[in-house]
Amino acid sequence: MKARVTVHRDFRIASIDHRLYSAFIEHMGRAIYTGIYEPGHPSADANGFRQDVLKFVQDLKIPAIRYPGGNFVSAYRWEDGIGPKDQRPVRLDLAWRSKETNQVGINEFAIWADMAGIDMMLAVNLGSRGLEDARDFLEYVNFPGGTQLSELRRSHGTEKPHDVKMWCLGNEMDGPWQVGHKTAIEYGRLADETAKAFKLFDKSIETVVCGSSNDGMKTYPEWERQVLEECYENVNYISLHKYFGNQSGDTLNFFGKIEQTGRYIQTIGGTIDYVKAKKRAKNSVYICFDEWNVWYHNIEEDGRRWRSWDWPEAPALLEETYNFEDALFVAGLMNEFIRRSDRVKIACIAQLVNVIAPIRAEKGGPAWRQTIYYPYQFASLYGRGEALNIAVECKTYDCAVENEVKYLDVAGVHDREGGTLTLFVVNRHLSEAADLDVALHGFTNPRLIEHLVMEGHDLRAVNGPDHPERVVPTQGNGVGVEDGALKGKLAALSYHVLRLSVG
Ligand code: AHR
Repeated sequence: MKARVTVHRDFRIASIDHRLYSAFIEHMGRAIYTGIYEPGHPSADANGFRQDVLKFVQDLKIPAIRYPGGNFVSAYRWEDGIGPKDQRPVRLDLAWRSKETNQVGINEFAIWADMAGIDMMLAVNLGSRGLEDARDFLEYVNFPGGTQLSELRRSHGTEKPHDVKMWCLGNEMDGPWQVGHKTAIEYGRLADETAKAFKLFDKSIETVVCGSSNDGMKTYPEWERQVLEECYENVNYISLHKYFGNQSGDTLNFFGKIEQTGRYIQTIGGTIDYVKAKKRAKNSVYICFDEWNVWYHNIEEDGRRWRSWDWPEAPALLEETYNFEDALFVAGLMNEFIRRSDRVKIACIAQLVNVIAPIRAEKGGPAWRQTIYYPYQFASLYGRGEALNIAVECKTYDCAVENEVKYLDVAGVHDREGGTLTLFVVNRHLSEAADLDVALHGFTNPRLIEHLVMEGHDLRAVNGPDHPERVVPTQGNGVGVEDGALKGKLAALSYHVLRLSVG
């Protein structure tokens, strides 16, 4: 298959917000307990945080992490997780039918996030609770001292405020499964008042209002319009969530869901513009895609299990094992986020450890990186700078979810300061290699400095505790710069990170 690609340094989409490579972690399953916190584990530090997991997290260079939920947050009392650990209550978590021991709360999580080098993005409970509790939480977390709540935090050993700047106004409030589920108008009003109060506290705080739980919801996209009409001026972002799967076993259709996601983003972008125009507003609202991932391998079995179980503590839940096909999918989805970085400023992989996650960790045992860890990591490491608008000419295919999907999926990021251009390329063709010919315009003396590749695996190949490095990236070859153009052969079903020095 011939693939002609044209890159020009002046054809830019947007400056990428580094928070495009953020993550999400929830109090559910073994994400927090066992995942990041396991006192007694051989690698645990004095606070109980697993250093083996932490190292994998640090290597991802994650800018921000959304916490503590998810569905969990909609019935969560933040006060349960503060103060002496032996006095914290054990509560029922209605979202996942589990027991929450509250051994990790905001102050412990802040210690972990600090070690991981990640900023916190906190969600408040607008399901079972409301403005008053959200406001108290904010004061406890962010106020330096001299008030009851800030002094309470200091008495708990956390002298300095956490100074959290990103706040999510509830979670998936359109979902009938959510504790405290609301109509768009009810929620929009509450979100508006909460966001207003947060900005009265500190005008530099950024707020994220809930969009639809996914683009399959009956209320989508009317939900977004109604919610934004209630709160547009007080919010900075609207959240999007979407989980993906190859339920029909059709690889090309699975990949087509990436283009479908582009339309989802475009629709919400249009809705934002509509409300902005209607309100004659000056501020801009962007997209925070704060839950995305592949989630289908065990979804039905998991659903049966957790709906019937008897309130266990930190049970194994949603522990998807990702294969090579999923890695190719995630690579393409990261490309879509880069191409849509004019609209999407924040995106969070959901989740980070054990629960639908790139990192897995066994109780008392090893931690390992799943296949999807690598494309997420490479986008985070090398996808910072300006997203370029790249022209791609190659064969296309039609599938159930989209027509004219290009077999070659390309995104490019120019780091002007670092003098590098990175192309992220997925050849989605099932059997044909791509003859790549990239015309590079406006760059000085382009040279290939690194070629990372994931290829040659069975689509169902996975990593696991006994074979943690079965599917890993390797150094590529066969691609190089000739007469100012980047040329080479890319195998069928392969992923490439092509890093060039461009003067
Ligand atoms: O990430 C798992 C769950 O998926 C989250 O709790 C919820 O927000 C979404 O439905």
